[in-house]
Amino acid sequence: MCGIVGYAGRQNPVDFLLRGLRMLEYRGYDSAGVAVTGSGKNIRTVKSAGRIDVLHKLVQEAGLQGHIGIGHTRWATHGLPTKENAHPHKSFDGAVAVVHNGVIENHQTIREELQRKGIEYVSQTDTESIAHLIAYYLREERGNAGEKPEELLPRIVRLALSQLNGTYGMAVLFRDYPDVMIGAKLGSPLIFGIGKGENFLTSDAATLAGCTDRIITLADHELVFLSADDYALYHRDSGAVPPHIETLAIDVSQVDKGGFPHYMLKEIFEQPEAVRNTLRGHFDYDSATAKFNGLNILPPKLLSVRRILMTACGTSWHASMVGEYQIETLSRIPVEVEYASELRYRNPPLDEHTLLFAITQSGETADTIAALREMKRRGFPTLSICNVVGSTIAREADGGIYLHAGPEIGVASTKTFTSQCTVMALLALYLGRLRHLSFERGREIIASMEQLPALIEQALSVNDHVKKIAQKYAHCGDFLFLARQFNFPAALEGALKLKEISYVHAEGYAAGEMKHGPIALIDKNTPSVFVAPKSYVLDKTISNMQEIKARGGPVIALITEGDRETKALADDVIELPEVTEFLQPIIYNIPLQLFAYHAAVARGCDVDKPRNLAKSVTVE
Ligand code: AGP
Repeated sequence: MCGIVGYAGRQNPVDFLLRGLRMLEYRGYDSAGVAVTGSGKNIRTVKSAGRIDVLHKLVQEAGLQGHIGIGHTRWATHGLPTKENAHPHKSFDGAVAVVHNGVIENHQTIREELQRKGIEYVSQTDTESIAHLIAYYLREERGNAGEKPEELLPRIVRLALSQLNGTYGMAVLFRDYPDVMIGAKLGSPLIFGIGKGENFLTSDAATLAGCTDRIITLADHELVFLSADDYALYHRDSGAVPPHIETLAIDVSQVDKGGFPHYMLKEIFEQPEAVRNTLRGHFDYDSATAKFNGLNILPPKLLSVRRILMTACGTSWHASMVGEYQIETLSRIPVEVEYASELRYRNPPLDEHTLLFAITQSGETADTIAALREMKRRGFPTLSICNVVGSTIAREADGGIYLHAGPEIGVASTKTFTSQCTVMALLALYLGRLRHLSFERGREIIASMEQLPALIEQALSVNDHVKKIAQKYAHCGDFLFLARQFNFPAALEGALKLKEISYVHAEGYAAGEMKHGPIALIDKNTPSVFVAPKSYVLDKTISNMQEIKARGGPVIALITEGDRETKALADDVIELPEVTEFLQPIIYNIPLQLFAYHAAVARGCDVDKPRNLAKSVTVE
């Protein structure tokens, strides 16, 4: 999500740091900062909210110089995207500065313990605890006068790391040891680059292109102690480890898209990780349910909810529809999904037992903001499901759930749809367990949700096959996307994806509705894409396929692996793993994203910036 860079050498580190941060800007873009040692007694930091351009100007104005430095570009997870929350974070005594990617799950406990010891915090981040913890141990453990920095500092950092639960890729500077730095990794990438008279740290090897081609990819629990001319690798628990040096082969021009030709494709392939992050920390195994920290509504109040109203636009509206099916099935609470552009001017009859959800990737969509405000004005409790931390909707709702899907840059929403549907499933579990769902069923649902990242990996493996099918049909001017029940919103989303990036006319329909009008469109040049996994309505969907075939329409079908009967009917099939019904739209929407992507590329469209569209629609 965020990006890390570090430099030790004889050049001013600021040049490499700013260049690296610029290359990493696509990963996180709400704030950034750098810190250097070696030019005076203190670690000097420059930080700012906003883009790297802003930071660059401030660094120049400050005349920042040194010979060891670290930098970070942030995408907020804990705390608003402010200068105070931007990295690097310094310790209470100024002896340590840290940049960090990942999430420290026990940061609140560490914060409270250190505060009891009199340490004051200046930010809301989880990272600040790491800086304080290292400085605290440094102060407490420096007793052994004979210990050299290359022994002392790795020992202290290893001690601090052993207190952390969660994930990190981090780089640490020391005021009193201005020629050295430490990098450490657990669950978040960190790469050490070996140069001549200079060494590098980065969370993305692409930033080393043109600097060095000798790299060491740190494994989990490893840390590297480095200076301009030397380095040593350690395991957090078992001491020194031998280095495994690899050769870096990266084309600089691919850097900012992480090696993918488009952000959209990169984001499609980030989905296993995005969903892993969305799910992280949300299972309560002991109670066989889901848990949420920020709802700000207690179970007794939730038990009195008799109706949920969801409001959103575009893809977020489709995710809300997935939620409607999931929540009604698992919790039996009636759910209504309303376009935000309609709700804001409508005056639906609602009683005091109604709960409103605003669903949005950006948190800045003008219609969704207006609908939320209107419902707040009427006194209803409001919650957001949002990706961007600190956005308007996240701030104005009474409480909410963050997606943690990472920044989405491609205009077409992909990974955030998948994460939104995942949050809906968590909510359905939570609300269901508050009502009639059994403990045993709760456990089963958790087990099936834990499979999601692996199932998404499998769904992504059909990419090459989907590309061929998309190329075969890319000349067609009209498509129907058809499905039933849980997969009906996935069909709507598949049609939206295709039309927004390939400019091809596409309609999503409930398959059973097809006979009531759209069937008139069917001919040999109008393909129908069916989402037809094994389910209690598959035989009904098969009947709809037969009706299309009888009228000469081509059929592309997304089916469960090994389903020969459905395969025999379709002109082209995409086989996917078997998935429990309420999670099917999360998996079966993925080939539809790939289909839209490859069709758009085949038609020569600008995938990441489709005409007339903006990533965030901030006007009515
Ligand atoms: C979908 O690919 C589009 N980006 C668009 O429909 C989008 O979902 C809609 O504008 C809502 O945006 P939001 O989720 O940021 O509120």
